[in-house]
Amino acid sequence: MSRPEHLAPPEIFYNEDEARKYTQNSRMMEIQEQMTGRALELLMLPEDESMFLLDIGCGSGLSGSVVEENGHFWVGMDISTAMLDIALEREVEGDLILSDMGQGCPFRAGSFDGAISISALQWLCNADKKSHKPVQRLYKFFSTLYACLSRTARAVFQFYPENTEQIELVTSQATKAGFYGGVVIDYPNSTKAKKSFLVLMTGGSVPLPKALGDDGQESRVNYTSKREMVKKSRGKPMKGSREWILEKKERRRRQGKETRENSKYTGRKRSGRF
Ligand SMILES: C[S@@+](CC[C@H](N)C(=O)[O-])C[C@H]1O[C@@H](n2cnc3c(N)ncnc32)[C@H](O)[C@@H]1O
Repeated sequence: MSRPEHLAPPEIFYNEDEARKYTQNSRMMEIQEQMTGRALELLMLPEDESMFLLDIGCGSGLSGSVVEENGHFWVGMDISTAMLDIALEREVEGDLILSDMGQGCPFRAGSFDGAISISALQWLCNADKKSHKPVQRLYKFFSTLYACLSRTARAVFQFYPENTEQIELVTSQATKAGFYGGVVIDYPNSTKAKKSFLVLMTGGSVPLPKALGDDGQESRVNYTSKREMVKKSRGKPMKGSREWILEKKERRRRQGKETRENSKYTGRKRSGRF
């Protein structure tokens, strides 16, 4: 099967039809959410603190919603207007920017506590126009990302490398831009579950986190339920509960966003009689 990035440039491939799939295909949504959960784990953020994160190739905001559920604030950038329209429709909390990552990250130095990117980085290894030089675009991207991260921050990219040369290409440009790190491959022996995460660190040479399922002892982890367990152990309310909705509304108010008043009906389940 052809890889999407071989079919058309991202701003064309992710048109209205393709973008719509992101709210209609529950399997796709589940996978995006699981991979975001794992990317957040690999970011190793301090416990119980709300962080300010950048989501690169944020698309329809599925990954952003997981960031929100984990109590963080985010800004998303994406090259596809159709995908960003879906994110707006979904009323995500993050601010959205239409921007090509190959032209760099347009933010002030040290703005973010971390960055994630889910299924987007492989697009940058492709030349869609005569003027596109993947090496230059990757370097521009990583060097400006490095600049807009705080000096303890990490960036985690789940991506689909086409071959080892592509991994080499990406890691060499990231290293040239100042990052430490490498690629963590979860479930390397499973064709279906195998997932690659580029983990980049801005400071110090800290060992890479352990991959899942690489020693035959760690069993497959359901990231969603693991996230839920972590949340419960931190005393955070369950997704969809009244407490969860009230917290979400409070966050929106703190961000100065228009939010409906709380009432005795907030978070109440509908009776189903229509
Ligand atoms: C598989 S989708 C990821 C969706 C997203 N994580 C979500 O939760 O909906 C990949 C995204 O990367 C974006 N993308 C690809 N190349 C890009 C580029 N050069 N700059 C910014 N975004 C890009 C695409 O537009 C698309 O929305």
